[in-house]
Amino acid sequence: MKHVLESQQFTKEILYDLFKKADSLKENSEKLLENKILATIFYEPSTRTRLSFESAMLKLGGRVISTENAKEFSSAVKGESVRDTIKVIAAYADCIVIRHYEEGSAKEAAEASSVPVINAGDGKGQHPTQALLDIYTIHKELERIDGIKIAMVGDLLSGRTVRSLCYLLGKFKDIEIVFVSPDNLKMKDDIKEYLNKHNIKFREENDLNKILQEVDVVYMTRIQKERMSQNDYENAKGKFIINEKNFNLVNKNSIIMHPLPHVEEIELPMEIEENDKRVAYFRQAENGLYIRMALLNILINEKR
Ligand code: CP
Repeated sequence: MKHVLESQQFTKEILYDLFKKADSLKENSEKLLENKILATIFYEPSTRTRLSFESAMLKLGGRVISTENAKEFSSAVKGESVRDTIKVIAAYADCIVIRHYEEGSAKEAAEASSVPVINAGDGKGQHPTQALLDIYTIHKELERIDGIKIAMVGDLLSGRTVRSLCYLLGKFKDIEIVFVSPDNLKMKDDIKEYLNKHNIKFREENDLNKILQEVDVVYMTRIQKERMSQNDYENAKGKFIINEKNFNLVNKNSIIMHPLPHVEEIELPMEIEENDKRVAYFRQAENGLYIRMALLNILINEKR
């Protein structure tokens, strides 16, 4: 594992090794990366991914160099290619985390880099480290991954998090996925083909309330206004919402996840968000820190 570019590259063995390391680093964040430097290069906005990677590096004793708005504040403005930018940054850092608005850009970066590159989201492509923290969260919360039934709800067409999570779920047994999305934002055929190939049962449904009673995990996603036409957005928004009323349909041992940020698709009062253990998305975001600590340690220190 030199780079982290897509979910398909992870085996079950690597995943469980990562979970173990994340558990251990949560308890004891040793200074394993002293004198190492992480570069975070973000061409698209981020709160969780960039800051959790940076926090992970600092907790491990390393240092961080960063451009949080590379589209405006890097030499991309002057026309520099991703390839050239990464080639140069690789001489300044021991690992590079890149988020870019174009699918395939992380792969291009990795080809140009002499140090590990981590894909922190490439357009409508993938967000593999989100999928890693998602599967870790399922493992922690439900104490199993095999045999789970999960609903993926919302913008499944532009959603790189659900795409990456499907690839990881394809590694496990007896998984069932229910896709619930507006008609214009359905999951793409490439993922459906992958799931068929890996014997993962899936179906598409329109009735969210019916599904809430059936599944172990409700994975909500935001309608990504920034990745579609105004017309598509108007046709899709507000179709699938979790609110105080239908939240009661969620089984007592099931969980609601969301990669965040959430907007109108979750309308739960703060009291429920803070006190009901079925709301897992803030614990999920915290898990990102431990998974990213484990990943940085493997990529920089162990250099597999
Ligand atoms: N889940 C996620 O990628 O969040 P950010 O866009 O805030 O990084």
